[in-house]
Amino acid sequence: MLFTIVSLLLFLPSLTSSSETWIKAGYWYSGSQFPVPDIDSTLFTHLTFGFAYINTSTYELLIAPSDEPYMFTFTDIVRQKNPSITTLLSIWTGDSNFSTFFSMATKPSHRTSFIESSIQRARLYGFHGLELCCVKPDTNTTKMENMGILFDDWRTAVDRESKNSTRSPLLLTLASHYLPSKNSTSYPMESLRRNFDWVHILAYNYHLPTMENFTGAHSALYDPSSNVSTDYGIKEWISRGLPAEKMVLGLSYHGCVWTLADPTANEIGSPATGPAVTPDGLISYKFIKSYMLCDGEKVLHNSTYVTNYCINGSVWIGYDDTEAIRTKVSYAREKGLLGYKVWQVANDDNWVLSKAAQEDEKDPRNKRQLLLVILLPTAATVTLVLVSAMWYLHKRARRNKGWMDNEKESQSLFRTTMASPGNANDPNLQAYDLWKCGKGMEFMDPSLDDTYLSCKLMRCMQIALLCVQENPADRPSMLELSSMLKNETAAMNTPKRPAFSTRRDEDEVQESTISQQEICRSSTEDREGLAGVVAREDRKAPEYFSLEDLPENSGDESGSNRTDEAVSRTKSEEVPETGSSSPAVAV
Ligand SMILES: *[C@@H]1O[C@H](CO)[C@@H](O)[C@H](O)[C@H]1NC(C)=O
Ligand SMILES: *[C@@H]1O[C@H](CO)[C@@H](O)[C@H](O)[C@H]1NC(C)=O
Ligand SMILES: *[C@@H]1O[C@H](CO)[C@@H](O)[C@H](O)[C@H]1NC(C)=O
Ligand SMILES: *[C@@H]1O[C@H](CO)[C@@H](O)[C@H](O)[C@H]1NC(C)=O
Ligand SMILES: *[C@@H]1O[C@H](CO)[C@@H](O)[C@H](O)[C@H]1NC(C)=O
Ligand SMILES: *[C@@H]1O[C@H](CO)[C@@H](O)[C@H](O)[C@H]1NC(C)=O
Ligand SMILES: *[C@@H]1O[C@H](CO)[C@@H](O)[C@H](O)[C@H]1NC(C)=O
Ligand SMILES: *[C@@H]1O[C@H](CO)[C@@H](O)[C@H](O)[C@H]1NC(C)=O
Ligand SMILES: *[C@@H]1O[C@H](CO)[C@@H](O)[C@H](O)[C@H]1NC(C)=O
Repeated sequence: MLFTIVSLLLFLPSLTSSSETWIKAGYWYSGSQFPVPDIDSTLFTHLTFGFAYINTSTYELLIAPSDEPYMFTFTDIVRQKNPSITTLLSIWTGDSNFSTFFSMATKPSHRTSFIESSIQRARLYGFHGLELCCVKPDTNTTKMENMGILFDDWRTAVDRESKNSTRSPLLLTLASHYLPSKNSTSYPMESLRRNFDWVHILAYNYHLPTMENFTGAHSALYDPSSNVSTDYGIKEWISRGLPAEKMVLGLSYHGCVWTLADPTANEIGSPATGPAVTPDGLISYKFIKSYMLCDGEKVLHNSTYVTNYCINGSVWIGYDDTEAIRTKVSYAREKGLLGYKVWQVANDDNWVLSKAAQEDEKDPRNKRQLLLVILLPTAATVTLVLVSAMWYLHKRARRNKGWMDNEKESQSLFRTTMASPGNANDPNLQAYDLWKCGKGMEFMDPSLDDTYLSCKLMRCMQIALLCVQENPADRPSMLELSSMLKNETAAMNTPKRPAFSTRRDEDEVQESTISQQEICRSSTEDREGLAGVVAREDRKAPEYFSLEDLPENSGDESGSNRTDEAVSRTKSEEVPETGSSSPAVAV
């Protein structure tokens, strides 16, 4: 029973560590002038260079001469800190009516110019993929059909180039509006699904200070009073047929600033008179933190919208702080999306937001930690309760048969160990107390005992007690546990007082395992595999087991991480957006 439960526990981590390809992407925009070597690329799986443009007469890629030197070195530089990072080149299409883009998409020869030059440039500069940024659906259905044809052609060309060059194909991605459709027309969904590695949903700039005279949550996850929200957009995309696992959620590292019409009316949706602080009212998170003094109690969080805002006089700033970012990343995991992408890395404040994005509670790795802290000791407690119930029932059976000799001895023991307050009915404590004075076998169902097994049983009991120690930091990890169970000669710590007991710890611990060891030594000396288990001289065991102690097959944790990195390296990136007609988004 004990073995069954404990070994069941060992499988729990593998259940939660699904093979994850989790995209953590970000834009570097050349207009930010943020030094590329200063990007902490370890926080990302993908980085996208913004932007290339489309030449209005040739429809080839247009590279600003001042950007070209950065394009040549970008990938090499960000790979210095993170050799497995994937880079993409984003192509900006966003003049206000996308006229150049649709002209290009309409004519086969223009499409070819665009497609061939995009592939050629991406290879020239060493990017691993391309992104088409920010084109919105148009009500002209012919235009949308042409868009679908362009994407088919692009994919065909990328695959052909890959075969011809024997290099892995460039990633093809799209940065899209948060809604899949506009009035009756929508993106060419079938084409998107066929041709893009993923679609990046630009889930921000829903409300802009230059466009609306009401304060707004510009990247609201939910909105109780309208459909202008990320949640609504994602659901629309899914209902239109784009699978969640092809979507990457956009996160904004900038805020929108309004001038309040009345400083006392300062909630989300309050009247305003236009932008503040900057001409378009867009400011970076870094700027909010360092100049606006939006910190401490001035920062408010609205969990209905999932956003932060702060008020400084008549200045109202809506933005996402760490808690909103975390919630959104959790949301992305919960909905089964592929990952997230931030606009833009230069706007972070000392990587605070990017680090928060890695801490969401839905992360399977964080779940594993929770397991260690909560589930493990709980399950071990259940085990001990079951064992003690068996023990109790067995005692009763014996009492009924009148085996008084045995009874007296264990009753007196029971009395002494139960004498201290707080122990009553606490099987953990009973087990602990018995084990401590070397009488752990008293706790077991005697039918389990024989001279060979007893030491193994005591080892299990010691492991169980280690798992229910009060301080989570004292408890063994899953790997250590696996090692202890598989390798019978591995050293083990001495358990401290179990959690959930009313009595405090200080009085005990230490010593007292001696009698335990002696029992084992005398009964198991001659047994191969068990000899020396508990009888080792160096009982001052190390706090934790070193990696060398682990059995070969328990190293899967680091192994799977490596695989994940490899997987995510083969998938990549997409796009940012600013919602306005120029990419020069946030300060
Ligand atoms: C577009 O391409 C043409 C032909 O190569 C070139 O003359 C023109 O300068 C390009 N446009 C821009 C904005 O660079
Ligand atoms: C909109 O598209 C037309 C061509 O279809 C173009 O002439 C016009 O300049 C575009 N407007 C803007 C603001 O880009
Ligand atoms: C729709 O777009 C196509 C191709 O750009 C164009 O030829 C056609 O005139 C447009 N239709 C309308 C109603 O604007
Ligand atoms: C294949 O690659 C070679 C150079 O490596 C090039 O000359 C040729 O045009 C390519 N063929 C196609 C179909 O792209
Ligand atoms: C789309 O529909 C809205 C109303 O639902 C209308 O106001 C708007 O003019 C339409 N846009 C176009 C381009 O037809
Ligand atoms: C939101 O969209 C749904 C349909 O998707 C519609 O029934 C509902 O009325 C919309 N709500 C608002 C506030 O526009
Ligand atoms: C969020 O803001 C809205 C609008 O001001 C308000 O109605 C709602 O109660 C707020 N939600 C929370 C949780 O504070
Ligand atoms: C907002 O209000 C100001 C002053 O009240 C006005 O000048 C401006 O045009 C308004 N902006 C919008 C987008 O309505
Ligand atoms: C408001 O912002 C200014 C900077 O624009 C700052 O000096 C001041 O301390 C802020 N006041 C409050 C109450 O946050």
